[in-house]
Amino acid sequence: MSPAGLAKLRTACIIRGAMERLKIGVLGSGKGSNFRAILAAIAGGRLEVEPRIVMSDHADAGILALAREAGIAHAVICEPSFRTKLSPEIEKRVVADLRKAEVELVVLAGYMRMIKAPLLEAYSRRIVNIHPSLLPAFPGLEAWKQALEAGVSETGCTVHFVDAGMDSGEVIAQRTVPIHEGDTAALLHARIQVAEHDLYPAVLARFCDGEIT
Ligand code: GRF
Repeated sequence: MSPAGLAKLRTACIIRGAMERLKIGVLGSGKGSNFRAILAAIAGGRLEVEPRIVMSDHADAGILALAREAGIAHAVICEPSFRTKLSPEIEKRVVADLRKAEVELVVLAGYMRMIKAPLLEAYSRRIVNIHPSLLPAFPGLEAWKQALEAGVSETGCTVHFVDAGMDSGEVIAQRTVPIHEGDTAALLHARIQVAEHDLYPAVLARFCDGEIT
């Protein structure tokens, strides 16, 4: 191993402790294909994180079923009052659950609500998200459709830190995806998701080895 590699490894060991895995909490609202990719990377020895809890605002979300199958603690977030965010009281309960599970990094994987002060303050610069475009282009919903409508020749996906804005936090990594003649929204989204499933575990691995702090 190169001197630079050794230095990086030493830093990672100091930061994490030799055998300790980064404890993550995963929030998602949908089918959970990114979480599935994270689980596959762990199983394949490519990612040394420990998913401590999975939380979803949809009781029937696929991501919860995946957590159940994998024997990972999971919980439903019940928010009767708002659709696009959590009330402060409920978000505080989410923070309490994450802390109880000793979560160090919050991983948003298709979580469809804005993150507000209770969680942002409790996990400052420790919340990451994956978005299906090359941010800052096409923030918000159905970014692949926005890209098709804009007539651009390529789009992609972005892993970024989460701040109070809509997909506006600091970019950590991006992957470019081509747009082909005759692409439908479904085809393009599927192609972006293939890139996401590669990019998200790879970025989390960079947190584990101390490259991103
Ligand atoms: C992904 O396309 C991600 O970019 C966006 O939500 C989708 C989640 O998909 N934030 P999945 O639930 O991980 O399959």
